[in-house]
Amino acid sequence: MKENGKATVSAPALDMISQVIRGERRYAFALGDCLDVLRKMPDESVECVITSPPYWKMRDYDVRNGSLIGDEEDPKDYVKKLVIIFNEIKRVLKSDGSLWLNLGDKFHNKNLMGMPWRVALAMQDEGWILRADIIWDQMKGTQSVKDRMRDVYEHIFHFVKSRKYYFNADAIRVKPSKSAVVTDSRTISATGVSGVKYREQILKSECLSEKEKENALKALDDMLNRVRSGELVDFRMTIRGQQRTYHSDSVKISGRAKELAEKGYFFITMKADGFLPSDIWRIVPEDKWRKDAHYAVFPEELLFTPIKATSRPDGIVLDPFSGTGSTVAAALKLGRRGIGIDLSETYVKISEERIHSDFNGSYGLLF
Ligand SMILES: C[S@@+](CC[C@H](N)C(=O)[O-])C[C@H]1O[C@@H](n2cnc3c(N)ncnc32)[C@H](O)[C@@H]1O
Repeated sequence: MKENGKATVSAPALDMISQVIRGERRYAFALGDCLDVLRKMPDESVECVITSPPYWKMRDYDVRNGSLIGDEEDPKDYVKKLVIIFNEIKRVLKSDGSLWLNLGDKFHNKNLMGMPWRVALAMQDEGWILRADIIWDQMKGTQSVKDRMRDVYEHIFHFVKSRKYYFNADAIRVKPSKSAVVTDSRTISATGVSGVKYREQILKSECLSEKEKENALKALDDMLNRVRSGELVDFRMTIRGQQRTYHSDSVKISGRAKELAEKGYFFITMKADGFLPSDIWRIVPEDKWRKDAHYAVFPEELLFTPIKATSRPDGIVLDPFSGTGSTVAAALKLGRRGIGIDLSETYVKISEERIHSDFNGSYGLLF
């Protein structure tokens, strides 16, 4: 529906969104300007938002009206527009909810603009709490640059509304690939730490007192027992005078430096139940939809981690710039509900078709 050249959201689309919120439907796509649609959604009605707005001066989408984001002459206007939209998102997000915002940068007159960080800093000024800046290493990128490094990454900012937020760490732990090996004579960690070298370093140390040596040897035995029992797969020991602390030797700055000063040693351990993913994600962008349908499509792999970590089963995941509907499709696959909004009629149509084809056969389960 169009009014003065601007897309307005239809009543049936809004009704479908309400049905999703009430739990009467699994998903809805609304055609329209996301700011309009968001303004019509109730407070604290979604649990997780994952989105990628058009980047500043980067893409040519098939919509031409005043609401299209990304074609502003002044980068400050781009930031302002996004901040207004994300303030509205803050209102519809539950108080323990999360927002994952994917943004790429832009060279303008040879100058790297730092657009993702301009937006992130402006959002912090509006009260958002930034929990992570994930570097999405896309592992390819243009080969044609001649006078600078090839750019291969984009940002995914994880924002929250409040200091206490839902985060299911167990749902996304990366399991260690090898477990501890216990031979007849000794225990060896996943990367081959047997404790022999540490024992020797403690015994020969000229920087530890006799009492500290005794305590360090006992702590090393305890650590090996924890590997033997399967609780830990690996550990590293830092001993005063032997290895350096990792970040700083200052006891004021580093808790580990403090431990080293007080006890003469500390451990870094790797638990068998795994560790959280790092803030560098190596994921090749989705190509499947690209040629005929859209640019900048989210790969599913990129969506699964945020959805699992920051939405409960059956929770609602929203993408206000939903493009080909990737976020909604991934949310449905993980048993969540999904809401997508896009200004382009073509993309909303593609999204609907995509859900129908992805859920072919089990389509009935979606209602
Ligand atoms: C980077 S793409 C998103 C791609 C999406 N992540 C996917 O996986 O397909 C940005 C989308 O924002 C849409 N868009 C631009 N301005 C908009 C607005 N004001 N409201 C809603 N959608 C908008 C564009 O039509 C485009 O589909």
